[in-house]
Amino acid sequence: MAGQEEKDKTGGRLQRLWRQPKSWWLLGIPLGAWCMFVFGLVAVVGAEVMIYQTGTDKFCAGACHSMEAFTAPEWRDSIHYSNTSGVQAGCSDCHIPHIYPQKLWVKATSGARDIYGEIRGVISTREKYEGHRPAMAELVWQRMKENDSRECRYCHNSESFDIASQNEYAARAHQQGLSQGQTCIDCHKGIAHMTPDEAAAEFARLETSEPR
Ligand code: HEC
Ligand code: HEC
Ligand code: HEC
Repeated sequence: MAGQEEKDKTGGRLQRLWRQPKSWWLLGIPLGAWCMFVFGLVAVVGAEVMIYQTGTDKFCAGACHSMEAFTAPEWRDSIHYSNTSGVQAGCSDCHIPHIYPQKLWVKATSGARDIYGEIRGVISTREKYEGHRPAMAELVWQRMKENDSRECRYCHNSESFDIASQNEYAARAHQQGLSQGQTCIDCHKGIAHMTPDEAAAEFARLETSEPR
C-alpha cells in the first residue's frame, strides 16, 4: 500500500478535508465551506435583484409621494418618455451611473438622502417642492458638469452626431460648443423636467388662474 501512503502525503492532504472525518466535529470544515458558498451566492443574487428592483421607473417614479405627484408627470410629458423612435430614457438612465463602483455609491448615498427627505416631508407639497426645485436641479447640473454629462453620453454619442442633418443652430452649437469644452448639460437643461424658471412661471400662472 505504498502508493496510497504517497497519495495521502501530497494531494491527499487537501482531500482529507472533504472525506468523512474521524471525529464528528471535524465535519464542520466541509460543512462550513458549503454554508459560506451558499451564503455568498444568496448575498450576490440578492444584491443584484435589489439593485435592479430599486432602479426601475416603476420604483423611482412611484416609490414616494413627491416623485409620483410632481416629478413623474413632467417626465411623461417629455421627449425622453415618448418620441418617434420609441427609445425611452428612464429615471436611472440619467440619474444613476451605469458603471461600478460609482453606481453603488450614488445609489447608497442618494437613496439614504431621499428616504430621509421623504420622512421629514421636505418636498411633500407643491409649495415645498417648488421651493426646493432650484437647489435640487442645481445639484444634478453640478454632478453632470463634473462628469462631462456621462449619463447623457450613454445614449447620445457626440462622435456619431450627423452634424450635416442637424438644423443650423444645433450644428453650430455642437461644433463650436463641444470643441470649446462645453458639455451637454451646459446647453440642454430641462430635457426631462421643467427647469426651475419654467416651473416657477407655470405655478405662478396656476395660482393666479385658480382663485376659487
Ligand atoms: C436612455 C437613452 C437616453 C439618455 C440617457 C438621454 N437621452 Fe436624450 N434622447 C434620447 C432619445 C431616444 C431622444 C429622442 C430622439 C428622437 O426621437 O429624436 C432624445 C432626445 C434628446 C434631445 C432632443 C430634444 C428635442 O426636443 O428634440 C436632447 C437635446 C437630448 N436628448 C439631450 C439629452 C441630455 C442632455 C441627456 C443627459 C441629461 C440625455 N439626453 C440623456 C435618449 C436618451
Ligand atoms: C453650446 C451649446 C450646446 C452643447 C454643448 C450641446 N448642445 Fe445639443 N443642441 C444645441 C442647440 C442650440 C440645439 C438646437 C436646438 C433647437 O433646434 O431648438 C441642439 C440640439 C440637440 C439635439 C437635437 C438634434 C436634432 O437635430 O434633433 C440633440 C439630440 C442634442 N442637441 C444633444 C446634445 C448632446 C448629447 C450634447 C453633449 C454631447 C449636446 N447636445 C451639447 C446646443 C448645444
Ligand atoms: C433625460 C434625462 C433624465 C431623465 C430620463 C430623468 N431626469 Fe430627472 N433630471 C434630469 C436633469 C438634467 C435634471 C436637472 C434639472 C433639469 O435640467 O431639468 C433633473 C432633475 C431632477 C430632480 C430635481 C428636481 C427638478 O425638477 O429639477 C428630480 C427629483 C429628478 N430629476 C427625478 C427624476 C425621476 C424620478 C425621473 C423618472 C421619473 C427622472 N428624474 C428622469 C435628467 C433626467
